[in-house]
Amino acid sequence: MKTAICPGSFDPVTLGHLDIIKRASKLFDKVIVAVLLNMDKKTWFTIGERIDLLKKATADIPNVEIAGFEGLLVDFARQKEACAIVKGLRAVSDFEYEFQMALTNMKLDSGVETMFLTTSSENMYLSSSIVKQVGLLGGDIKPFVPECVHDEIVSRIKQRSRLR
Ligand code: PNS
Repeated sequence: MKTAICPGSFDPVTLGHLDIIKRASKLFDKVIVAVLLNMDKKTWFTIGERIDLLKKATADIPNVEIAGFEGLLVDFARQKEACAIVKGLRAVSDFEYEFQMALTNMKLDSGVETMFLTTSSENMYLSSSIVKQVGLLGGDIKPFVPECVHDEIVSRIKQRSRLR
């Protein structure tokens, strides 16, 4: 039984994330999407909201489960008996930071491999920040987020923007 972790902030989930999760689910028996609970980082969506959106967006993928985590990613991976961390690489700009994290994780626990999947070309430019910015300014975010959670994301972006 091979388990992989797909970690991230998912603030909120995008089609780019979903693409990586789906492709990882074909390579591993089980994929755990690990949603970071980071007290220092101000997210627009609460941990509960981010988990809920991911659950809806991945409802049709049987071997995917969603979980929140805090602390070190390698500790979470070990606790879940995962052998790999799977991440998407969009562009050269992602590389340095991702490489740094992968090498740190390898030093912390050499039993957990980091694997990179190249992002599909249509998602190269996509990020949660872009989705929030476009949504906040009233633009159409349909091309960027899973259809089943589109309305929820739009209304929460509007709600959150009023509170900021
Ligand atoms: O979507 P993000 O914000 O790029 O995800 C970053 C994430 C969650 C993968 C990263 O912040 C992380 O692994 N955090 C856990 C803390 C940790 O393990 N740090 C040591 C490795 S750098």
